[in-house]
Amino acid sequence: MKVQLENITLSYGDATAVDSLSIDIENGESLVLLGKSGCGKTSTMRCVAGLETPTGGRIVIGDTVVFDSERGINVAPNKRNVGMVFQSYAVWPHRTIRQNVAFPLQQQKLPKDQIRERVAEVLDLVGLTEFADRGASLLSGGQMQRVALARSLVMRPSVLLLDEPLSNLDARLRDRLRVELREIQQRLNLTCVYVTHDQSEALALADRIALMQGGRIVQTDRPERIYDTPSSASIADFLGVSNIFPCTEITSGAGAVLGLTGHEVEVRAEYDAGAPADPSVCIRPEDIRLSEEPSTDGVNNWPGRVEVVSFQGSYVRYRVSLKGGPELDAIVPRRGRELLRPGASVWAAADPAAVQVLPSEVPA
Ligand SMILES: Nc1ncnc2c1ncn2[C@@H]1O[C@H](COP(=O)(O)OP(=O)(O)OP(=O)(O)O)[C@@H](O)[C@H]1O
Ligand SMILES: [Mg+2]
Repeated sequence: MKVQLENITLSYGDATAVDSLSIDIENGESLVLLGKSGCGKTSTMRCVAGLETPTGGRIVIGDTVVFDSERGINVAPNKRNVGMVFQSYAVWPHRTIRQNVAFPLQQQKLPKDQIRERVAEVLDLVGLTEFADRGASLLSGGQMQRVALARSLVMRPSVLLLDEPLSNLDARLRDRLRVELREIQQRLNLTCVYVTHDQSEALALADRIALMQGGRIVQTDRPERIYDTPSSASIADFLGVSNIFPCTEITSGAGAVLGLTGHEVEVRAEYDAGAPADPSVCIRPEDIRLSEEPSTDGVNNWPGRVEVVSFQGSYVRYRVSLKGGPELDAIVPRRGRELLRPGASVWAAADPAAVQVLPSEVPA
């Protein structure tokens, strides 16, 4: 079901946690709210669920206005048909899995055979059928989180809100549940809002990512587009893009040459038109080439020294210090080649087309 947030503002005393935030979430879409701790992700979710009353704005779920500050509409949380899964599992330890999952339906006083059927269906969906009669205190973290998910899904919510549901789990389990969650969301064509501060989780789970800073959404796009074209250096940095440097000087005109701590960097032509006021240069590690000889054209080719070599199986990650300048990270596919050694002299190169110029921050 479609969800619309219009100019949602939420203040705690003097502090604004959500600042006039607007976004439309499409039916069946998985939207990930991504941002640093304290940027307002949980607060936004709580507004959608009806657990907080925004200071202003409007929230529409499907065709129903569930909140409108001007018209004084505020539908109670249990009438919004919104499911929530949190970081803490909130599973009753003294009940079996089946009893935990059946509980919300019993509250609704559904007939027993219907409850049995729906519980069996969701337990199958989250892969817990064989543990159905096990006491919940005997479960692992991952199983516990599946119970929490099943308990939300059994209510057939029109929107599912997930607030860092995997952050208590170890890395391998997190990776696995991430894929399972995505599969369930797609199979049920469920409208989901997923909150995380983990960029790789966001990239893996989202149809669209909304990047939040200071209670606002600063960029919304498909994961691969946010990764490829972050709208500011601080977003690029947050997404784990390395090789971001402040520019000391921009010479516009033919070629657009930037001074980068003593090194000149030629950037792609489109930045000729107008670079931002406080530019940073961003060159992804996968776009840095390393060779033992200088290139023939000399464009964006800098001498340096290998400092750190980190073998990652299919690729090698190098840290190279440029002569008199910054350090660069380079990711080089292995392809059976010899690894460079620490201390080796190398030339680092980057195609001008792969060099981005970004404003340090998105203007408010
Ligand atoms: N109950 C509250 N009373 C006062 N301030 C609050 C309350 N809840 C949150 N805040 C403040 O509102 C801001 C946004 O908090 P929120 O919990 O939404 O952040 P978040 O993005 O979910 O962070 P995290 O990633 O750490 O969970 C923070 O500055 C926080 O300190
Ligand atoms: Mg939070």
